[in-house]
Amino acid sequence: MNYRHAYHAGNAADCVKHALLVLLVRAMTAKPKPLFVLDTHAGIGSYDLTGVEANKTGEWRCGIGRLRDDPPAALADFVALSGPADQYPGSPSLIRRLLRPQDRLALCELHPDDAATLKHRFGRDPQVQVHRRDGYEALTALLPPAERRALVLIDPPFERVDEFATLAAALQAATLKFPAGVFASWYPVKSRAPVRGFFADLAARHVADVITCEVLFRAPLDPARLNGCGLLIINPPYGFEAAARPVLAALSTALSEPDGAASLTRLADE
Ligand SMILES: C[S@@+](CC[C@H](N)C(=O)[O-])C[C@H]1O[C@@H](n2cnc3c(N)ncnc32)[C@H](O)[C@@H]1O
Repeated sequence: MNYRHAYHAGNAADCVKHALLVLLVRAMTAKPKPLFVLDTHAGIGSYDLTGVEANKTGEWRCGIGRLRDDPPAALADFVALSGPADQYPGSPSLIRRLLRPQDRLALCELHPDDAATLKHRFGRDPQVQVHRRDGYEALTALLPPAERRALVLIDPPFERVDEFATLAAALQAATLKFPAGVFASWYPVKSRAPVRGFFADLAARHVADVITCEVLFRAPLDPARLNGCGLLIINPPYGFEAAARPVLAALSTALSEPDGAASLTRLADE
């Protein structure tokens, strides 16, 4: 496990994932019923933007750094939630900021140091459970939840060449175990072919009610670069698609080069 999110926290891809995550949690907390959120690949929860790792790559400057300079109206909620200025929240902190007293959050992280940091940060919070375990395995172990309503964020590091195949199989197993769950799965766009293969794999597995939200930072011509990213959502909540369109457009305007783009595409009907 070589991937450390501290080098990438707050970059353009994080902003795409987290701006959409905020919309999903907001949509699912609009009703008073309790919500369970499962974050299968949690990282350490929040990141110091003045730290060595963040400034070794400086990636955050082309992500949250740019958005904080002049937040577009569609991203104001996300940017306000992302503070304070010298920090960037990982998915655990962002989700936690949006939970109501009746909601619950489970965080899974496999890296021993990162799991220890998460435990230190959230261990005493009665609404949060931290697990040092494989997030893919937790998908079927922790679902369905007692609340019967859940949002699941799956955000693997894509270190392994078979990550898309693992993800497709995990999504099929999780949706069979808990068909009503809302699943949001982040993926990189380096070149189009692996992403097309992932979509075809999910279709072959008969996963229904699937949309994808993508921001390309530039045309995906050089497969050595992270040219964009997407969030694939199964069972998107009511109102999410309408709310996501202006957010995607604002993300692309702020973060993409002139040949970039944003899109929301339905991949499979309900
Ligand atoms: C992209 S980062 C997560 C970032 C976090 N979701 C956020 O948005 O702030 C991926 C994390 O998954 C962890 N990881 C890798 N393989 C894992 C696995 N099988 N189960 C759980 N965590 C894993 C890595 O240590 C890393 O911290």
